Amino acid sequence: MRSWLADAYPWIKSAHIVSVVAWMAGLLYLPRLFVYHAMAPVGSVQSETFKIMERRLLRGIMNPAMLATLGFGLVLAGTPDVVDWHRGWIWAKLGLVGGLLVYHGWLNRWRMAFADDHNRHSPRFFRAVNELPTLALIAIVVLVVVKPF
Ligand code: HEM
Repeated sequence: MRSWLADAYPWIKSAHIVSVVAWMAGLLYLPRLFVYHAMAPVGSVQSETFKIMERRLLRGIMNPAMLATLGFGLVLAGTPDVVDWHRGWIWAKLGLVGGLLVYHGWLNRWRMAFADDHNRHSPRFFRAVNELPTLALIAIVVLVVVKPF
């Protein structure tokens, strides 16, 4: 088991990074759709089209990519000698991953509000929250690559 996991390490890490890219693409793009959706009149053709795009992006790509990111990440974390749990970077990273999970949950809530024609947020609000996953991504990449502490 130990050596199998160690041999598979570069493959699991590749799968982890591919899943991260797919998940992040959705976390960055879905709020952009909300910006334009918030400007479309309720009941318009554009609004109904945005609903379909948002549902498919979240259910078809973001949910599976999130689960794959977490699954491959946990396997990496369980591979012997990959993580020194006395270092701080892994805990800071896991904290930020927790933040991304909360953000994913917010996106789902806002998507459902749009689906029910009950969105209460402005385009400006969605532009502003769109910065959060960008900051988290930059911090996570520096933490896992530089391992500054
Ligand atoms: C439960 C969630 C996660 C866990 C347990 C986890 C764990 C890990 C582990 C153990 C590694 C290998 C580190 C090493 O080789 O030194 C890794 C690599 C990586 N992770 Fe995660 N990860 C998670 C989520 C994420 C997320 C959400 C992102 C980005 C937004 C991310 C980005 C990366 C990147 C870019 C690498 C490659 C770093 C390198 O080149 O060594 N991970 N992850």
